[in-house]
Amino acid sequence: MWKGRDVITTREFTRKDIEDVLRLSERMEKISRGKKHLPLLKGKVLATLFFEPSTRTMFSFQTAMLRLGGAVIGTAEPKSTSAAKGETLWDMMKLVHECSDAIVMRHPNEGSARRAAESSDVPFINAGDGSNQHPTQALLDLYTIKQQKKRIDGLNVLLLGDLKYGRTVHSLAYALSQFEDVTITLHSPAQLRFPAWMYAELKESVKIREIPSLDLSNADVVYATRIQKERFADPTEYAQSAYVLDAEKVATMKEDAIIMHPLPRVDEIAVEVDADKRAKYFRQEANGIAVRMALLSLVMTGR
Ligand code: NCD
Repeated sequence: MWKGRDVITTREFTRKDIEDVLRLSERMEKISRGKKHLPLLKGKVLATLFFEPSTRTMFSFQTAMLRLGGAVIGTAEPKSTSAAKGETLWDMMKLVHECSDAIVMRHPNEGSARRAAESSDVPFINAGDGSNQHPTQALLDLYTIKQQKKRIDGLNVLLLGDLKYGRTVHSLAYALSQFEDVTITLHSPAQLRFPAWMYAELKESVKIREIPSLDLSNADVVYATRIQKERFADPTEYAQSAYVLDAEKVATMKEDAIIMHPLPRVDEIAVEVDADKRAKYFRQEANGIAVRMALLSLVMTGR
């Protein structure tokens, strides 16, 4: 059941939850591109609060709401809110939920989404809380996998890059664990390994393993990520990507595998790879609108 629900972490998603969103997302495709008009959320207001940089997540939520006939209020400038006067997130949510029918928030602190949601009576959607979770990214990732590979069950998904601070891979791994016979393969620089507690928890329900060197040849999905420099306590902790996916590396992949990335990329994927038919990251980013339309409609109206 999605109606009225807070969307904080994919640890709480069931397979049915995910499939409900994916099914509706497919029906939203035409409307997401402005080819069909369906004002399902007319009269509703979405509040978007971005206390951390965002381009695609913020724009796609706003477009999703507008395409469904709803309105958007919000800010991407924390200094312009009463947070700058020392107001707590808890108090701010008391105001924001009076002004809106759902709230989307991105915030640099892990756990901020849960706290803010507890203070709000309208559905609250986590658009990224520090290095913890980014559940709507996982939904659009799964939508893209299903769209491109026709299934999720049975796939081997290779997660690459900053697996320690990368919230998208945390959310995606939990969401994948709801499917049958999935293998999650991890490869990262030694300093940026997947959190041990998540690994231990996931091991209970999904095949998950780390590989010591980069090997793309067995993956059905290669999911690259950016080194999350902004999360490092010590800026010298680890500054560069451990690998670059270039044409030579991509040549070792299966013919029918796909390459994904939550974007923005820095240097993890060479621009020459964009022309490869397996590169699906721009398609993935575009899918965010339909998927967020489906989710907004489900949490606000149940349909
Ligand atoms: C990701 C994020 O913010 O976690 N971006 C996104 O939402 N598409 C990934 C990143 O910033 O590297």
